[in-house]
Amino acid sequence: MQIHRYERWWLIFGLAMLVFFLALIGFAAFADNINPPTGMQQVDPTKVSETPPFDKPGLRKLADGSYEAYYVAEVFEFIPRELTIPVGSKVTFYVTSADVVHGFFIPDTTINMMAIPGWVNQETHTFTRPGEYLLICHEYCGIDHQDMFGKIEVR
Ligand code: CUA
Repeated sequence: MQIHRYERWWLIFGLAMLVFFLALIGFAAFADNINPPTGMQQVDPTKVSETPPFDKPGLRKLADGSYEAYYVAEVFEFIPRELTIPVGSKVTFYVTSADVVHGFFIPDTTINMMAIPGWVNQETHTFTRPGEYLLICHEYCGIDHQDMFGKIEVR
């Protein structure tokens, strides 16, 4: 089979790009530990406020320096709105929505997920730097989406 020279270059270039980006994804996943949220737990979105542990959202201590944070997202707020975390803590966030799809994003951390009605998403982050972190909804969810935010104080 005869392949034109330019066509061969393009094939090699395309394959090299494919290998390069696959390697990049592999590096991010295994070296930097950046992975999509993996929560598979389900919850009835119409009964979130009655279903434990989401009936009492907030921070739970597991051990010294290890916490779980339960969050409910609904139009147009996060419950709890504010949270205080001791510096150096490893926190696993569990998030669900009581109505529509919301975002759950904490800039300067690895926490970036969706709050999906019916599902519980989870991600873990260790807060090594003290300060005030913003929690924002980064998925358009309605007329007051831009006012949907929370605050996390690390000290
Ligand atoms: Cu909730 Cu945007």
